[in-house]
Amino acid sequence: MKSYNDTPLLSAFNRVGNSVIQWCTPSIHMEVPRVSDIYGNDVSVSYHSLGNPCTNTGIFLAAHQLAAQAYGADYTLFSVNGSTGSNFIVLRALKRQLGKIKLLAQRNVHKSIVTAAEDYGIDITYIPLRYHNDLQIFIPNTIDEIVAQVKQYKPNVLLITNPTYEGISLYLPELIEKVKKINKNLIVFVDEAWGAHFAFSKKMPVCAMQAGVDICVQSTHKQGSGLQQTSMIHWKKKLIDYDSVLDSYTALTTTSPSYHLLASLDGARHFMQYRGEGVIDAAIERAAYMRKQINLIPEIHAYEPRELIRAAGAGRLQIDATKILLHLQGHSGMELSQNLEQKYAIIVEKYESENILLIMKLQNYREEIDNTVDAIRKEMRLLSNEKKIKFPEFPSVIEKKMPAYRAAKSAMQSIKINSAIGRVMAENIIPYPPGIPLIVKGEIFQAEHLQYLKALKKTGGLITVMMNDKTINTIIAVKQTA
Ligand SMILES: Cc1ncc(COP(=O)(O)O)c(C=O)c1O
Repeated sequence: MKSYNDTPLLSAFNRVGNSVIQWCTPSIHMEVPRVSDIYGNDVSVSYHSLGNPCTNTGIFLAAHQLAAQAYGADYTLFSVNGSTGSNFIVLRALKRQLGKIKLLAQRNVHKSIVTAAEDYGIDITYIPLRYHNDLQIFIPNTIDEIVAQVKQYKPNVLLITNPTYEGISLYLPELIEKVKKINKNLIVFVDEAWGAHFAFSKKMPVCAMQAGVDICVQSTHKQGSGLQQTSMIHWKKKLIDYDSVLDSYTALTTTSPSYHLLASLDGARHFMQYRGEGVIDAAIERAAYMRKQINLIPEIHAYEPRELIRAAGAGRLQIDATKILLHLQGHSGMELSQNLEQKYAIIVEKYESENILLIMKLQNYREEIDNTVDAIRKEMRLLSNEKKIKFPEFPSVIEKKMPAYRAAKSAMQSIKINSAIGRVMAENIIPYPPGIPLIVKGEIFQAEHLQYLKALKKTGGLITVMMNDKTINTIIAVKQTA
């Protein structure tokens, strides 16, 4: 018999099982069709008559075609390295198809986009960020702002990260209509990591494929009933070349993808297609109930979906009401989420300095809501009264000196942050939360970045900063020639 120390991962994983209450991904309804015997059913591409996922043949092709129909695409591929891997596949495919890419993107891109663009020599122009400092969340650029940037920069690819982490979504049909009027050949790529369930309920924002987007990726494992790692790539054939996507998929997918994960995608698609609407709408109702209960507790506020939309401001927006954003009015989101995890085995999706985000998953049930609300009530009474850390504005200034891929190949040097103003970055700095790049390679370090980094330093670990020097004393800059 193995002891816990012999197999720390396996033992912990088996122990955790159902003993925690999770308000985080994956969202998988209890009745989703499942792989029946994980070890017994493990097969590989050597079983030739099944076809091959990497070449899109056999049962894999059949499952992809059913998914394309269900999600409103011309083509779909199942992917086993999350939207991270899917973003790499899509950018590589677009580069192969177009040769030169002029990519315009909102600033809230996932780090996989930043990295893939650098690796494939793709220059990104970022649309200046809209960050709501009171809500402490990223707010989508308005459609008019995006349209103005499309007119100014004349990109051949527009990337929209939609919805945001908190579920705020642009009304995509309007965006597509307006940008295609400017350039009917503009390829619109949507990172719909958080919208794998949108296609199946009228109460959800309009999904990318139904809005007329050319290509999108989704993390089916987030809220679409797939196992961890599962993702889909959907596209329309009008502007997207099948051979380029398949070439990229074949090149970047492991030659031994887990058939369990692929089968989980097939099961997820089937379940969402036939039962999605009912279970999503029920989750929305449970989320409304939970918000109501939480709003009876002093000093904590669960934003109603309409409040978020109003705060997000101008333009037509939609919202995923399964997301529950809590504002702690001066208390620390980290402190509450740590207490919930350590004392009650309640896991939240994410915390920020004064916020906590919960996801009402398809499988959460009423007793879990009541237990969590009770735990929050108890813990809010005990929370320290320590004053909140006041953050400066998240800088929206962007001044690009050169493409990131060029900065990455330049000679570099380490510079003390106090003397870094005006220097060209040779590293990306991404504070988490909010997980949005503060500055990326090729951009000029400004006084606002310095101020922000100094403020982060004072938070003493509340914010994880993805950068080379974890002590936040130095940055890596492109070396200046004398
Ligand atoms: C917008 C966005 N894109 C892509 C990803 C990567 O997704 P995955 O975890 O499926 O690799 C994430 C992860 O949170 C995300 O938020």
